[in-house]
Amino acid sequence: MTITQDRATFSIGDLDLAADDYSRITVQKVAESIGARIGGVRLGGDLDAETVAEIRRALLQHKVIFFSGQDHLDDTAQYEFAGLLGEPTLPHPTVRGNEHGVLPINSDHGKANSWHTDVTFVDRVPAISVLRAIELPAYGGTTAWANTVTAYDRLPVALKALVDRLWAVHTNLYDYVAERDEKRIGGIDVAEQAYRDEFASQVFETEHPLVRVHPETGERAILAGHFIKRIVGLNTHDSTDVFNLIQRHVTRLENTVRWSWSPGDLAIWDNRATEHYGVDDYGNQKRVLHRITLAGDVPVSVDGVASTPRKGDASAFSSLT
Ligand code: SIN
Repeated sequence: MTITQDRATFSIGDLDLAADDYSRITVQKVAESIGARIGGVRLGGDLDAETVAEIRRALLQHKVIFFSGQDHLDDTAQYEFAGLLGEPTLPHPTVRGNEHGVLPINSDHGKANSWHTDVTFVDRVPAISVLRAIELPAYGGTTAWANTVTAYDRLPVALKALVDRLWAVHTNLYDYVAERDEKRIGGIDVAEQAYRDEFASQVFETEHPLVRVHPETGERAILAGHFIKRIVGLNTHDSTDVFNLIQRHVTRLENTVRWSWSPGDLAIWDNRATEHYGVDDYGNQKRVLHRITLAGDVPVSVDGVASTPRKGDASAFSSLT
């Protein structure tokens, strides 16, 4: 395996992340730090291996990729296509999902309007997420993604030295105090409360390094987001301050891309190199997207130490890659 850290020639084995030579698909950047629009392909379970390999390369290079005009997809075809990129997990560690193995992201159940990486409360964090537009509001409802590799790369050396050593506890009960208060004052409706109860029906806690080494590219990526409960070894105040400091660097607008969904759109992101945020700017309109996650590995710190589960067994959710 060759790892060259110079960005212009970054390569691992046969994978050349800087290469812009695609023959099966078109790739058009939509922002400097993250995001590309992919064209020239009709997604489905019957895609040839070369096209799938180019989609994968574009994903590793741009971290989130967008496809339009994929109106022919249904849940089954989305699942079959996703299966070409990796092994689908269960829809979620605690939420059932639908009969096709897909997790509906439904505004009736709540909104993901907080920066996060999917399912970081388990040890085997999904590698990739595949999200498809189903029902969209007349306005708003965009999704934003941030590149956690460039966020790390752009940190001052002194901050890199700090975060390289830090670990954090992630849990699916990340904001339970606020939720309990809301319940007491009647600020949450029945469908949303039922979803939250299902979400928290089994408790997971995992200790992850704040910086992980990407298993395919060798890049260092910040692993943070809203499932963090505390930074290991720090008191509440320091933990909150460090968390906010890291998130501020990750979510700088220059480090993000924002996608305005249209019918037939599908987005794929590298969940090992991004955080994302579903923007809640569409009032009471309904918004539904269908998500499939693909199995990932257990994150490893810059000095080679793997994440450790503290509560819950996620082996039924996903195999390890
Ligand atoms: C998600 O968090 O997977 C969904 C993001 C969104 O609702 O836009």
